[in-house]
Amino acid sequence: MARILTGIQSTGTPHLGNILGAIMPAIKISNNNMNDSFLFIADLHSLTQIKNPEKLRVNTLSTAATWLAFGIDTNKSVFYKQSDVPQATELAWYLSCFFPFSRLELAHSFKDKSNRLDDINGGLFSYPMLMAADILLYDANIVPVGKDQLQHIEMTRNVASRFHAKMGETFIMPEARVEESTKLIPGTDGEKMSKSKNNVIDIFLDDKALKKQIMSIKTDSTPMESPKDWSRCNCFALYEILASDDQVNLMKINYSNGNYGYGHAKQALYELVMTKFSKQRELYSYYMSNPDEIDKILAIGAEKATTIANNVLSRVKSKLGY
Ligand code: ADP
Ligand code: TRP
Repeated sequence: MARILTGIQSTGTPHLGNILGAIMPAIKISNNNMNDSFLFIADLHSLTQIKNPEKLRVNTLSTAATWLAFGIDTNKSVFYKQSDVPQATELAWYLSCFFPFSRLELAHSFKDKSNRLDDINGGLFSYPMLMAADILLYDANIVPVGKDQLQHIEMTRNVASRFHAKMGETFIMPEARVEESTKLIPGTDGEKMSKSKNNVIDIFLDDKALKKQIMSIKTDSTPMESPKDWSRCNCFALYEILASDDQVNLMKINYSNGNYGYGHAKQALYELVMTKFSKQRELYSYYMSNPDEIDKILAIGAEKATTIANNVLSRVKSKLGY
């Protein structure tokens, strides 16, 4: 039996990279009867970027609706939002006191922006400690994440070891789990798909807007008639992740034969997205129109999460003499 835990920030509607890289793999392992799981919306982490209550609320709903649309089993998994269990912020404080400032400075989440220090808030700097608390607070064994989060999991293990060295064994040592095939989903510009880069595919957009996004995928200027190198094409890379083996083989032939333009390839990708995710698109809009249902589900999750969180927090506090 392993305890699976992962979170996703509510900084916008989850995009195809979030879905394939984090949400689907997490749901898959949490549906295994050998595991129990904690899946949450990291809405406290979102506050490092978003200061608008309306926006935070909508993002929380759309992140929850995505998990629900992709089939999270809320009877089996504890599904909650981070801000409903503030015990994590208390644990984050304790952990911070065991972790060197100089190592926090090395976190990519901070370092990538350290040339704009005036724009960085303290929350962004201590972000990895809140993430460590999210994980250690629930005795998680396995944390499914995309590749970009590996450093944060390393920091979590590191702070747990430092705490143990001074206070004795207290935490379960978590391990990251990266799904190899979906560890880095490219965006429409070929770079890592990311909410902050304006290169996302949002599968929940209406048909026309989704098509426009897919048509904006960057391709080279090889003429329609000429054969094309599928191995260097960004549209193909996305198609390959979503399509069946037969569909992929056929697409390779289309590219190699020529007389098949990038417009055709993009149209094929658009149709694939529409058919593959038709059920999820329907469920997503159902939940977005029924926010009360989402609130009820998250409230049940918060209650279950709080029980575990209080247990682990008392263990930590007794070690610290509080
Ligand atoms: P973003 O970069 O869009 O802000 P987040 O940092 O909120 O995404 O990531 C949420 C989860 O989705 C993380 O586990 C992250 O590793 C995963 N993820 C994000 N972008 C991608 C991507 N392009 N490919 C694979 N996984 C991704
Ligand atoms: N930092 C993660 C991200 O940007 C979100 C997150 C917060 C998380 N706490 C977590 C992921 C705990 C896994 C475990 O994607």
